[in-house]
Amino acid sequence: MANQQPATRPANPRFSSGPCAKPPTFDLTKLADAPLGRSHRAAVGKDKLKAAIEGTREVLGIPADYKIGIVPASDTGAMEMAMWSLLGARGVEMLAWESFGSGWVTDVVKQLKLDAVSKTAEYGEIVDLASVDFANDVVFTWNGTTSGVRVPNGDWIPADREGLTLCDATSAAFAQDLPWDKLDVTTFSWQKVLGGEAAHGMLILSPRAVERLESYTPAWPLPKIFRLTKGGKLIDGIFSGATINTPSMLAVEDYLFALDWARSVGGLEGLQARANANAQAVFDFCEANDWIANLAVDAATRSNTSVCLKFTDDRIKDGAAFAKAVAKRLEAETIALDIGAYRDAPAGLRIWCGGTVETSDVEAMLPWLAWAFEAEIAAQG
Ligand SMILES: Cc1ncc(COP(=O)(O)O)c(C=O)c1O
Repeated sequence: MANQQPATRPANPRFSSGPCAKPPTFDLTKLADAPLGRSHRAAVGKDKLKAAIEGTREVLGIPADYKIGIVPASDTGAMEMAMWSLLGARGVEMLAWESFGSGWVTDVVKQLKLDAVSKTAEYGEIVDLASVDFANDVVFTWNGTTSGVRVPNGDWIPADREGLTLCDATSAAFAQDLPWDKLDVTTFSWQKVLGGEAAHGMLILSPRAVERLESYTPAWPLPKIFRLTKGGKLIDGIFSGATINTPSMLAVEDYLFALDWARSVGGLEGLQARANANAQAVFDFCEANDWIANLAVDAATRSNTSVCLKFTDDRIKDGAAFAKAVAKRLEAETIALDIGAYRDAPAGLRIWCGGTVETSDVEAMLPWLAWAFEAEIAAQG
């Protein structure tokens, strides 16, 4: 039977896992109120930065006694400054099941040279969460963006832990429930679930994390852009909009727009429902087709944002080349952009399902995926 192209095309082919699709109502004129060419320390700039902090608190439901800071260098900047500022006071346990989590392990073991316990799992699997010793500080990634494996919930983290939890939540925030009472340090970037710009990271600290910052000085030097305390006290300004160094007010305006859009779709609940519907469309497609499957082995750990897929058809001769060719074919037809698996991950596809993506676009794209699969099977000869 001839392999016919589906009739319907996605209106928006952007399924990248970061930077992610902008909110559907975005256009550049929405940023016209950005105070460009003004000092970020002028009242107009500080008010915008404060609105970004308090808007984050409101939409994510972050407790009033948690500190929220806008810091340099996207999610990486936020995670690095947290690890460099807080770790070393007690034992450290590092949990990783994909490449970003593994990056944090490398930093702690090879750069900070801490004698950490490292627990790692293969792509698609997760570590044994029940074995974690919370007498240690525990560093983990809530949603592993490059394997599509997330922690199912926060039940494995005890309320009365002695150590701190440091959580890279960049592809989870605004799509998954984050139990704030279980998280002492949480980081994310604007470029992920809300489709913002990548310039800045968000650093969220529990009162216990602040207590650690004010009572512990690491043995190593800290560059200016990592410094959160002065004279043993938290630099409060960082958490009220007086950033460490100069932020992009265009990126701030864009984030404020994204927060407004988030409110317009029902806030966190609405965003979660959108991501869940998108991911479900992909899960259903995998159920209906025996040549493709979710990389995440346990259904309870399947991401609703970075959904990672593997091809399972034994007619495929070269898995990596095949997956690349399918992604390239869909890109060439402007059906799906940037859906190749992450460079260090197993061969396959990764389809972003966060709330800025429209379910109608996922649904329109999937028949094209079947078309591209058949075309590549035929092309193998
Ligand atoms: C889990 C995770 N951590 C960290 C990063 C790095 O984020 P950024 O480039 O915003 O610093 C990413 C980016 O994709 C990620 O997915």
